[in-house]
Amino acid sequence: MTALRSYPIIGAVIAQLVAGAVLIAIRLVFAGVIDAALLFWAGLAIQCVAAAMVTRMLGLPVWWVWIGLGFPVALALGLNAGEMPAWPFGAAFVLLYLFFSNTARERVPLYLSNSQTAEALVSLMRQRGAIRFTDLGSGLGGVVRRLDGDGRVARGVESAPMVWLISLLLSKISARGRISRQDIWAADIAGEDIVYAFLSPEPMPALYQKARREMKPGSLLVSNSFAVADVAADEVWELPDRRNTRLFLYEMKG
Ligand SMILES: C[S@@+](CC[C@H](N)C(=O)[O-])C[C@H]1O[C@@H](n2cnc3c(N)ncnc32)[C@H](O)[C@@H]1O
Repeated sequence: MTALRSYPIIGAVIAQLVAGAVLIAIRLVFAGVIDAALLFWAGLAIQCVAAAMVTRMLGLPVWWVWIGLGFPVALALGLNAGEMPAWPFGAAFVLLYLFFSNTARERVPLYLSNSQTAEALVSLMRQRGAIRFTDLGSGLGGVVRRLDGDGRVARGVESAPMVWLISLLLSKISARGRISRQDIWAADIAGEDIVYAFLSPEPMPALYQKARREMKPGSLLVSNSFAVADVAADEVWELPDRRNTRLFLYEMKG
C-alpha cells in the first residue's frame, strides 16, 4: 500500500488489468450470444466501471477513480479515430501543461479548497489576531480572495501559467488579495502570520523545513489534508464538510 501511495500509477495499471480480466471472462461467456457491436459498447462500459471500482478499492485518491473511468473510453476513441490531424493533440498537451505543469514536476495536482475551509481559515486568523496570510500554491486564488480584507492581507503564490493568470485576473477584478507568479520554494514567508498549503504528501517534509527556517516564532503553517510525516501537529481541525477536511496546524517555535 505504501508503494501505491508513492506510485499511484501502479494501482491504476492494476485496476485496468483486473477490469480487463473481468471483461475477457464476460466476453467468453457472451460471445455469439450477444450482437458484436452491443458487446463492444457493453464491454467498454464494463471496463470503465470495473476499473473505477478497483481503483476505489485500492484506496487511490478520487481523481484516479475518474482517470480509471475515462481511460478506456479515451483509448477506444483513439484506436477507432482513423486518420486524424495531429494538431489537436499538441494543442491539448499545451493546454494541459498550462494548467497542470506542477502535477508532473511537484506531484501536486490542481484541486481547490472548499468554502468551509476558507471560513475555518478566517476564524483561525480572527482567533489569533493574524494579519498576514500566504497560500503557497494558490490555485485559482479562491482562498486568497476570501481571506483578504477586514484588516487582513492575503497573498497567493502560484506557478502554473494559466492558473496563475486566471487567479490574477479574478484578484484584480474583485480587488482582493495579491497573486504572484512564483515557485513556492522561492517565496519569502518570513513576515507571514499564517502560511497555508493544500499540496500533496510529497513536498510536505521540505515545506515544513522551509517554514521552520523562515517563519517567525508564533506563526503557523497550516496544511490541508496532508500531515508532515514524523512531526506531531500542534492542533488538528476536523471540518464538518463532505470531504471531512482536516487542517494540520504547526506552530513555529522560537
Ligand atoms: C491542490 S491545489 C490548491 C489550490 C489552492 N491552494 C486551494 O486550496 O484552493 C495546489 C496548487 O499548487 C500549485 N503548485 C504546486 N507546486 C507549486 C510550486 N512549486 N510553486 C507554485 N505553485 C505550485 C499547483 O499549480 C496548484 O495550483
